[in-house]
Amino acid sequence: MVIGMPAQLGLARAIAARLDLPLGHATVARFADGEARVSLEADVVGQAVYLVGSTGPPVDSTLMAMAQLIDAARRARARSITAIVPYLGYSRSDHMADPGAPIACRLVADLFQAAGLDGLIAVDLHSPSIPGFFSIPVVEGSAIDLLADSFQRHERRVVVAPDGGAIKRASRYAARLGASMAVAMKHRPAPDAPKLLHLWGEVEGREALIVDDMVSTGGTIEQVARRLQERGATAIDLAVTHPVMAPEAEDRLRALGIRRMVVTDSLPFEPRAAWPALEVVSLAPLLASLARPHGSR
Ligand code: R5P
Repeated sequence: MVIGMPAQLGLARAIAARLDLPLGHATVARFADGEARVSLEADVVGQAVYLVGSTGPPVDSTLMAMAQLIDAARRARARSITAIVPYLGYSRSDHMADPGAPIACRLVADLFQAAGLDGLIAVDLHSPSIPGFFSIPVVEGSAIDLLADSFQRHERRVVVAPDGGAIKRASRYAARLGASMAVAMKHRPAPDAPKLLHLWGEVEGREALIVDDMVSTGGTIEQVARRLQERGATAIDLAVTHPVMAPEAEDRLRALGIRRMVVTDSLPFEPRAAWPALEVVSLAPLLASLARPHGSR
């Protein structure tokens, strides 16, 4: 059985249809103090269940709701519990960034496992160290080929890694698209305050495709896109797996004149108004294939 969190019931339905499994749902009510009361609206006794829901904004709430849903499924005697969490919140907190910093993503792993999770399916995790935080199987898929295939190959395209962490991702896009590469370097003196330091690579007269795992405030993309425009890039396109989209991101990205922005439905994102540049590709086929790679139930 596939059970979708309310915000991602559409994605859960599409996954269930591909797996030929029944769809159940969960409700999340809120107490006045902000606590969530999660209710599993399905009979899962003896069943292999897939719980679908990204832990995106508001991250602490969606995370705790997913942990409660895992706990509910375990107490309701599900045979196995796999969480399909296309976007995993706190994935950027994957190492001790400074002395005294926590590794929040490790805590997320502990919480899910303590709740009774048997397996996790995620997409384009921010860091390769994250599966190692779990002692249960973690299956990671990638949306890169799906996103890359939304763009045509041509020789004037340059794929841009917006920071050092994106180089491997960008090289996969570049190989898929037969494009050259440019690399930016940034640092982040404070949360949500990225500062672009360098941009290496030939971009003048080329169409730039900036690729990233997530767009949150849009600050990284804004700085890289402006630098590309100053250096003579003729168009800016964007391919991003996770549209985290903090409130300021939409205005920021619209103001850049991006020609095409392709994201996935790993997170629910509804633009405020029509946005012709925006395209959303569904992860449902990929997630279904990850959930049942060999056709077994
Ligand atoms: C950071 O290393 C990530 O890969 C993204 O570049 C970053 O999280 C984007 O955040 P924002 O949109 O707030 O700049």
